[in-house]
Amino acid sequence: MRKPIIAGNWKMNNTASEGVELVNAIKPLVKGAKCDVVVCVPAIDIPAVKKALRGSKIKLGAQNVHFAEKGAYTGEISANMLKEYGVQYVIIGHSERRQYFGETDETVNKRTLAALAAGLTPIVCIGESLEEREGGLTEKVLSAQIEKDFAGIEDFSKIVVAYEPIWAIGTGRTATDEQANETIGFIRKRMKKAYAGKNVGKMRIQYGGSMNAKNCKGLMAQPEIDGGLIGGASLKAPDFAAIVNFDK
Ligand code: 13P
Repeated sequence: MRKPIIAGNWKMNNTASEGVELVNAIKPLVKGAKCDVVVCVPAIDIPAVKKALRGSKIKLGAQNVHFAEKGAYTGEISANMLKEYGVQYVIIGHSERRQYFGETDETVNKRTLAALAAGLTPIVCIGESLEEREGGLTEKVLSAQIEKDFAGIEDFSKIVVAYEPIWAIGTGRTATDEQANETIGFIRKRMKKAYAGKNVGKMRIQYGGSMNAKNCKGLMAQPEIDGGLIGGASLKAPDFAAIVNFDK
């Protein structure tokens, strides 16, 4: 069976010292967690948070990675740079990066392959907009992302996918348990077909979008949902811990 994975995406919140404070508050609350727990922090927080995570099973993640090994890419960070600091996971293709920073399916694919080559576990985000959902285009949009974002991957057990419907991010409007389950089921089926023989059955798919301490149990009880990618609620220790402890 697939082991659940709950990851916090701090986005551009928390300075390094605030991040350390948050981690110190989370640590005792998630001691007995049976799922994988990850915090994806701003790049500059990585060294301090890494230290603060010592002695816990919480894994360290980043929020983006460049696709080149090195070179003239001012302001960017390579997979090896993350790796050297003990980063294990990296979010790729978050809708905010697609919307505000010109991220495309092509760059998402390149970043994913670069992360894998360096031994990082990519958390690749896909999802439809409200217009697309209301226009009945959800499956079409997801199919195109599936085809482009994951091309060239040989072993899907080494990646995590986050299904984040854009209309549910930061809006307080969560997909219903059934909606999320159905769409994630579609993603898994479509990926099994597109990438047959490449371990898609072992790949974990998270739900992301206004997941919180209240709605996490219902979402996590769905058979297709293997975890959550949590924004706002990951910034409060008791809320994040409640999600991590969804099974208690
Ligand atoms: P919220 O949980 O704040 O809706 O954010 C979801 C998200 O974008 C996680 O990557």
